[in-house]
Amino acid sequence: MTSRHHQQPSSRPGRVVPAKGRLGVLLPGMGAITSTVIAGIELCKKRLGRPIGSLTQMQTIRLGKRYENRAPLIKDFVPLSRLEDLRFGGWDLFPDSVHEAAVKCGVLSQEQFRPVAKEMSAIRPMKAVFDPAYLRNLKASHTKKYRTKWDAVRQLKDDIAEFKDRSGADRLVMLWCGSTEILPQPSPCHRSLKALEKGLKDNDPAIPPSMIYAYAAISQGIPYGNGAPNLSVDVPAMVELAEREGAPIMGKDFKTGQTLMKTTIAPMLKARMLALRGWYSTNILGNRDGEVLDDPGSFKTKEISKTSVLDTILEPDLYPALYGRYHHKVRIDYYPPRGDAKEGWDNIDIAGWLDMPMQVKINFLCRDSILAAPLVLDLVLFLDLAKRAGLRGVQEWLSFYFKSPQCRPDLKPENDIFIQHLKLKNTLRLLMGEEVIDHSGLDYYDPVRGTPKSAPAPKPLDNAPRKARLGR
Ligand SMILES: NC(=O)c1ccc[n+]([C@@H]2O[C@H](COP(=O)([O-])OP(=O)(O)OC[C@H]3O[C@@H](n4cnc5c(N)ncnc54)[C@H](O)[C@@H]3O)[C@@H](O)[C@H]2O)c1
Repeated sequence: MTSRHHQQPSSRPGRVVPAKGRLGVLLPGMGAITSTVIAGIELCKKRLGRPIGSLTQMQTIRLGKRYENRAPLIKDFVPLSRLEDLRFGGWDLFPDSVHEAAVKCGVLSQEQFRPVAKEMSAIRPMKAVFDPAYLRNLKASHTKKYRTKWDAVRQLKDDIAEFKDRSGADRLVMLWCGSTEILPQPSPCHRSLKALEKGLKDNDPAIPPSMIYAYAAISQGIPYGNGAPNLSVDVPAMVELAEREGAPIMGKDFKTGQTLMKTTIAPMLKARMLALRGWYSTNILGNRDGEVLDDPGSFKTKEISKTSVLDTILEPDLYPALYGRYHHKVRIDYYPPRGDAKEGWDNIDIAGWLDMPMQVKINFLCRDSILAAPLVLDLVLFLDLAKRAGLRGVQEWLSFYFKSPQCRPDLKPENDIFIQHLKLKNTLRLLMGEEVIDHSGLDYYDPVRGTPKSAPAPKPLDNAPRKARLGR
């Protein structure tokens, strides 16, 4: 059974185990995103690139009252693994090294990653667990032979042990960066751990490869994240396993291009009580991800992930007059000339005062893997942090990074990017025993004695452990 208890990081503030030694990063799927992440991290380590887009590397976090002027970098505030301590491994359906994959994907120019070509060439994928029923548009050439899915789990566990030895990793995390699978039919084997384990042994067709990787990791207490919209860990059986084994889990589907825009604009419409009549979104995309999504089965998985965000932000049940009848359409067209340089168009039909119609147009000329790479880095570091902080099961505070955030089944997922951002930062504050900041600002003003002109005199230093408490 899925536990209904909330995790209470605030009950153990400041007790995060330090990030000593190496962190092994296991990436099933070594295509465009993975090769861009690894190239980028290696370039950053040599000070030849900047990790733009990464909160862990570039963002500060305000602590205490505004007049205290305390705003350390997140990476200086929470104990995160250093880039120098990351070691990469993974699996792919094709035998290309990370360097060869980067050349083929063409996200970065070869000139850009030449200084780290040696490091990238040294990383070769292990043979993948593959099931053509879940991925119809790729012809795999680098796959494992297995009789049962249980046997596939055993082979993956051997790979993980071998990688840990080879890389000298002290801790591990796994993040799915593989293709979008067709969604399996809902099946009793997803409902409990016992049924899932039986299903693995009986080769139940409702268990996709991503779930097999996830099982191999989580059953050893290794944190697991899912960057694709695959079902993977979003089933009660996997949540049960993660809670039992003390593994943090999260997903699904990295929030990058169009959904990043959607979950930024929609909260504004709702905050200003502007009505929505329709939202038409279309994308052209020419990378391997686009090729996979050209299959209607894989597209269906993506479509569910992309369309679900508006309802949870706009809450049509609370605002039927404004959001009860809007039309939402999402398309992705595979268009090879564009490669990874995706173009997303949004036409948003809105209405204001006295129902007067207005329109918003967005034309986002983005780069898919450039937007996804910093998310992968942050998620790897935060998954490892969660594990060292003793958090287990679903990590809702990482919703910020996902199109379809995983959460307790009786809750609505939070898709508003601004709330997600507050949630993430306040969780970090809680983990470190700092004040949660609610931003009301009331305690800067005193209506009885008059507003103070400056900050109160500093109090003597208190060496007792700080309790998490409300602040503004
Ligand atoms: N780039 C983005 O902005 C973005 C945003 C959200 C989600 N995603 C998702 O992230 C995933 C990766 O994206 P990408 O652009 O790197 O795609 P990609 O096609 O370049 O790489 C995916 C790789 O996964 C491999 N793969 C597929 N099934 C596998 C399996 N069973 N085991 C091991 N490897 C397997 C493929 O061979 C391929 O090399 C996709 O599912 C995509 O939908 C991407």
